[in-house]
Amino acid sequence: MPLVFLKRSVYTAIKSISEPIYSSPIPSTTTTTTTTTASGRMQAWIIYYYGNNQQFTISDSVQLPIILSPNDVLIKVSASSINQIDIRRREGYGGKLINAYQSMKAILQLGGSKVDKLEFPIILGRDFCGEIIRKGPNVTKFNIGDKVYGALNVIRQGSFAQYCAAGEDEICIKPNNISDEEAAALPLVSLTSWYAIQKFSGFNEQNALGKRALVIGASGGVGHIATQLFKNLGMETTALCSADSFDYIRQIGAEDTVNYKQKDWLTELSQKPKYDIIFDTVGPRYYSFELMSPLLNQGGTFVTIITPVFRNVDKYGLVSGLSRTAYKAVKQTLYGLSNGVNYRWAAYSADGNVLSKIKTLVEQNKLKVKIDSQKFSFEQIPEAISYVENGSAKGKVVIKYSSVL
Ligand SMILES: NC(=O)c1ccc[n+]([C@@H]2O[C@H](COP(=O)([O-])OP(=O)(O)OC[C@H]3O[C@@H](n4cnc5c(N)ncnc54)[C@H](OP(=O)(O)O)[C@@H]3O)[C@@H](O)[C@H]2O)c1
Repeated sequence: MPLVFLKRSVYTAIKSISEPIYSSPIPSTTTTTTTTTASGRMQAWIIYYYGNNQQFTISDSVQLPIILSPNDVLIKVSASSINQIDIRRREGYGGKLINAYQSMKAILQLGGSKVDKLEFPIILGRDFCGEIIRKGPNVTKFNIGDKVYGALNVIRQGSFAQYCAAGEDEICIKPNNISDEEAAALPLVSLTSWYAIQKFSGFNEQNALGKRALVIGASGGVGHIATQLFKNLGMETTALCSADSFDYIRQIGAEDTVNYKQKDWLTELSQKPKYDIIFDTVGPRYYSFELMSPLLNQGGTFVTIITPVFRNVDKYGLVSGLSRTAYKAVKQTLYGLSNGVNYRWAAYSADGNVLSKIKTLVEQNKLKVKIDSQKFSFEQIPEAISYVENGSAKGKVVIKYSSVL
C-alpha cells in the first residue's frame, strides 16, 4: 500500500504525455493544423545552469515548441503566473529525476542521440493562459482560436515563452468571467488543491458535508484556493495563517483562524474539535505528521503537498533517493496506521477535467483567485520571480504578455 502510494506520487510528479524536445524533428506521421505561418522562432526566458535569478537570459531565437504527439496543441501565451516551483526548479529542484525520465524517453524515441543535451536550456513557468494556434491531428476537444488555460507538467518546457505546447487532456477553455491574467493565476494552485483534497484524500461532494478541515498556510497560493474548495464541499475550515490575513481568509470561507506566529498556536488548535483532514502547504520542518496527527479524528487524513521525492533524488541520486523516499512513505504510513489516521503526499498533475470543474466554480462566483496588486510584463519575469522570492507578494503574481504578442 505505501509503495503503491509512492509510485503514484512519483508518477504524478513527473507525468507527461510528450514534452517538446526543441531540437527534435516532427515525426513524419504527425500532421498539424494551423492558422499561422510561424517564423519557427520565439522569445523566451531560458536558463542554462541552475542557480539564482541571474541565470535568466532572454532570447528571441528559441525554436518554437514542436508538437510531437498528435494529441498536443501549440498555444500562444497571453499570461502566466509565478509559482514556488519556478523558483525551486531554477535552483535545480527535481533536476535529477526529470532528467532521468527525459533521458529514458529520448533513448526510446531518438535511439540515444542528444541525450546529454536534454536538461538545458530550460524554459521555466508552469501556468499559462493563451490561444490555440496549432493542433495535432488527433485533437478533437479544441479548435484553433480557442482561449485555454492550464498548468504544464514539470517535465514539459515552460510558459515563460511566447508559445508552449500541451496535451489536449491537460488544458481547458478559460473561465469566461475573468481576465487572462486571473485565469493564468489559477491552474497550478487549483489543481494542487483539488488533487490533494479529492484524489489523494478522497473528500468529495458525496462525503464531505459537515466535516472539519484545517489548512496550514491558508493565506498562500494553494492555501486560499483549498480553503474555498473546502467551503464549496460544505466543510468547516480553520485557517492557520498570520493575523494579517484573518479578515481575508474569513471572507473567502474559513470559519475559524489561528495565528501561527503566536507561541501557543498548537495549544489553541488542540482545544478545538478535531479535524477530518489537515491540509499542509508548509512542510515537516514546522508541521510534521507526528506533531499534527493528534489533532485528527480517528480515520482522519493528514495530506501534505511538501513531498521528499525530488529533494531526495537530488541529494542522494536516483536509487538511494527513491529508496529513502519509499522508506519514509512506509514509516509514516505505519505510524498513521498505528494511530488510526492516514498520511498522504499529494502533487498536482495537468488535468483538463479538473480545470473544467474549477472553471464552473469560477463562473458561478464560488472560487476567486487573489491577485497581487503589482503587475509585471513578459520582460519583467525575473523581477516578478524576485518579488515572490523576497516574500513581497500578497496574492498570486501574474505576468501579462501583450508586449511580445
Ligand atoms: N506538490 C505540489 O504539486 C505542489 C504544488 C504547488 C505548490 N507546492 C509547494 O507548496 C508550498 C506552498 O505553495 P504556495 O504556492 O501556496 O506558496 P505561497 O503562495 O508562497 O504561500 C506560502 C504561504 O505559507 C505561509 N506560511 C509561511 N510560513 C508559515 C508557517 N510557519 N505556518 C503557516 N503558514 C506559513 C505564508 O503565510 P503568511 O504570508 O501569512 O506568513 C504564505 O501565505 C510551496 O513550498 C510549493 O513549492 C507543491
